[in-house]
Amino acid sequence: MSGDGMKAVRIHRFGDDSVLTVENVPIPRPGPGDVLVRVHAAAVNPVDSLVRRGLVAVSDRPLPWIPGWDFAGSVVAVGSEAMGWSVGDVVYGRPSLARDGSYAQYLAVDAGEIAAVPRTVPLESAAAVPLVTLTAWKALFDLGGLEAGKTVLIHAGAGGVGTMAVQLARHRGAKVVATASGDGIELARSLGADEVIDYRGEDFAARGRFADVVLDTVGGETLERSYRVVVPGGSLVTIAGAPDEDRAEGLGISVHTFVLDSNGSRLAEIAALIDADELRPVVSHVLDLDDVAEAHRLIDSGRTRGKIVLRVR
Ligand SMILES: NC(=O)c1ccc[n+]([C@@H]2O[C@H](COP(=O)([O-])OP(=O)(O)OC[C@H]3O[C@@H](n4cnc5c(N)ncnc54)[C@H](OP(=O)(O)O)[C@@H]3O)[C@@H](O)[C@H]2O)c1
Repeated sequence: MSGDGMKAVRIHRFGDDSVLTVENVPIPRPGPGDVLVRVHAAAVNPVDSLVRRGLVAVSDRPLPWIPGWDFAGSVVAVGSEAMGWSVGDVVYGRPSLARDGSYAQYLAVDAGEIAAVPRTVPLESAAAVPLVTLTAWKALFDLGGLEAGKTVLIHAGAGGVGTMAVQLARHRGAKVVATASGDGIELARSLGADEVIDYRGEDFAARGRFADVVLDTVGGETLERSYRVVVPGGSLVTIAGAPDEDRAEGLGISVHTFVLDSNGSRLAEIAALIDADELRPVVSHVLDLDDVAEAHRLIDSGRTRGKIVLRVR
């Protein structure tokens, strides 16, 4: 198979969505610790657009790169040291940002970065899960220390990270307050938010210090105002801006940020939650791989609900 070609989207230079080129390229060769996956679906994330525009340096490899860091698909080859996987296994994952991604018919991925897909949802929905759900989990529980009975404020509760964060926090037994607007308000509520603040009509910061944990997925002025709502001893976790440690210290709170790492065993836990009906992926658009530029226009709008997924035929 390694002599054959595959369809993939590559970027040869950084720029607007016109730099996304659909072309025929060699199928990647899996390393000893990798599996080779036939990709059925790949999700689109804001980081894909940041990489495309050259705003985030994920690798010092020379261009061209294949973007896309979420997928679901079937194992078609297993490296000599890739334990635990067999040809035919159906898996999902968030592969390393430093390697070619999943906007392609085939993907070579480290065996530790994948898990068996949730069995109860279509592969297009499974592909929408890994990056945003791992992000929400790490932010809420590993860094935020969110526990049952605590109050969390989740910004952009209708977005990719937000839709999963609302559900994870609710499942943990926290009181969930989310921000959203328009039809995003009903979506966040349907996912388990106890209260949704229409951020276009209400300043959440006017409520004073009410949140044990804030998950900021918006950055900018939303991040700026978020410090003021965290209770003393609480945590602000931002995935969209730079934390101000001095300001946090002055308020008696902690502030965190991070860049996500891959985590196959946590993805197995997440699949179990989906199969137990505790968590549901939210997909608003499924497009063909050929329509990748349209998918990037949507993600660049910053207004989408849940996830955008590319079907890879
Ligand atoms: N550090 C990491 O490891 C990491 C991991 C994942 C994501 N991220 C970053 O986190 C951010 C969010 O990612 P995502 O995938 O969730 O993005 P997304 O799905 O594109 O977010 C879109 C949502 O944001 C909402 N929104 C926009 N402005 C808002 C505001 N001021 N208040 C409340 N909601 C607002 C929109 O709702 P309306 O249409 O109602 O405005 C829309 O539903 C991105 O910047 C991404 O790069 C970082």
